[in-house]
Amino acid sequence: MDNIQLLRCEDLSACTISDFIDTPIHIVDNKGIVVFVNHAWVNAYKLEKVEAIGKPIEELMKNQLKYFMSINNKNNLLNNKSEYDYTYYRNYSTKSAATEVLQKKEKVSMVTLSPDQRNVVVTSTPIFDANNEISFVFTFIQDLTKTSELKEKLENEIQKNKALLSKLKYYKENKRDSKLIGDSKSIRDIRSLIPVVAITDASILILGDSGVGKEVVAKEIYSNSERSDKPFVTLNCSAIPESLLESEMFGYEKGAFTGAVKSKEGLFEVANGGTLLLDEIGSMPLQLQPKILRVLQENEFMRVGGTRKIPLDVRIISATNENLLTMVKSGKFRSDLFYRLNVIPIKIPPLKDRIEDIKLLAVEFLDKYNEKYGKNKTLDEKALLALEHHNWPGNVRELKNAIERLVIIGDQNVITSIQVQYITQPNDINNSFENDVIPDEINDEMPLKEAVNAFERKIIYNALKKYKTTYNAAEALKSTQPTIARKAKAYGIIKDWD
Ligand SMILES: Nc1ncnc2c1ncn2[C@@H]1O[C@H](COP(=O)(O)OP(=O)(O)OP(=O)(O)O)[C@@H](O)[C@H]1O
Ligand SMILES: [Mg+2]
Repeated sequence: MDNIQLLRCEDLSACTISDFIDTPIHIVDNKGIVVFVNHAWVNAYKLEKVEAIGKPIEELMKNQLKYFMSINNKNNLLNNKSEYDYTYYRNYSTKSAATEVLQKKEKVSMVTLSPDQRNVVVTSTPIFDANNEISFVFTFIQDLTKTSELKEKLENEIQKNKALLSKLKYYKENKRDSKLIGDSKSIRDIRSLIPVVAITDASILILGDSGVGKEVVAKEIYSNSERSDKPFVTLNCSAIPESLLESEMFGYEKGAFTGAVKSKEGLFEVANGGTLLLDEIGSMPLQLQPKILRVLQENEFMRVGGTRKIPLDVRIISATNENLLTMVKSGKFRSDLFYRLNVIPIKIPPLKDRIEDIKLLAVEFLDKYNEKYGKNKTLDEKALLALEHHNWPGNVRELKNAIERLVIIGDQNVITSIQVQYITQPNDINNSFENDVIPDEINDEMPLKEAVNAFERKIIYNALKKYKTTYNAAEALKSTQPTIARKAKAYGIIKDWD
């Protein structure tokens, strides 16, 4: 009891504080008699302080320590890679750690099971008096389950860090200032080809389905070229009526035709010194093709109705989602122009053939739209998987639009796979949607907000189908046209690409 007095007097504050620590602690004297236990110990061993204090630790532990194994205390337990592996610790012991300390006169650690079957490490440390004799043994018990939970958390953090680091590495190594995002082999190949071809003036033909990023590649070539401080002009061959195409391309002089009240530059002239993108080149009318070929070969042209030859210094990039070679074979595209344009072909594969790019693109677009709409949304693992499983007929453009909608709809910060499936389902207004108002995807486990969104989408869909315009639908739903238009776009009912 003297020892208890001594401990209480000298270490009162330390012992009181130790009651607030959730690590079980006990102290025995040099005879192995318990002189102190904290609250956490009482809770763990289901013994009141009065039942423990004054009793030999061996007696108390008899029932608790069915098996434990002593660890050579020179091994640093927590640095040991087999720290949770019982078989690793060879020296079997039937004594408590405190008793071992009294015998060995040195610090001892043991792995054992707590009464509630948790893996614990018991560490006992001798406290020596002035004569170098043990006066007390201080023991604390660390919960390895908690440690392993922390370890798991730490590992998660490390994983996240790794993902961030690899993203950073990717940005450093591949992306640099490139706007062409993707880490698939095809995109990496294109990215490394761009600076090589950019410095030449060779004609480039970019091939690929709609929305794969042909224009992005064309602009990358332009900005990597020495013409980057000169104009970049796009001529969309399919967007201009055939009758106007020639004057749009080459310009016209005053009086060249009815309505030509003053002369006007064409797009070739605007692009002079810079780069001209002949977009949708497959739509170039057959009768204009020889004229373009001549201009490109002679490097000069005349405005419609003009007589003056204008020297031309322009880098030509063409793009198409059509198979030009098939068109050449069927006589719809001139082979001489094809070979003139196709000096360096660059083929961009559809997004479904480069799934590795989906995550990077999705994260990039998420950042962009989070910023645009002042949100802070993230995609959970399953949502990313759902994005990767969709086959993206509209390619990157469709993905970009889908992410924009996912950012707009729903209040939750985490975008779920249900939302992804919902946004990527076929949603053409002319599809045969049933006319009832209960959406198919509604189920009992759906969060309320998502169910409400599904209903809202269905109601707007039905109204648009019935009333045809957003104005009429808004009137019928007692809403406003901008609201209906915005929601219809967000829910993907109305496709509004780019
Ligand atoms: N690799 C990419 N990295 C970043 N954004 C991309 C990428 N590919 C496409 N995009 C984006 O997707 C959208 C469509 O791309 P783009 O206009 O270049 O496609 P396209 O192949 O020219 O389509 P179309 O055949 O319809 O003209 C754009 O908003 C573009 O910024
Ligand atoms: Mg394009």
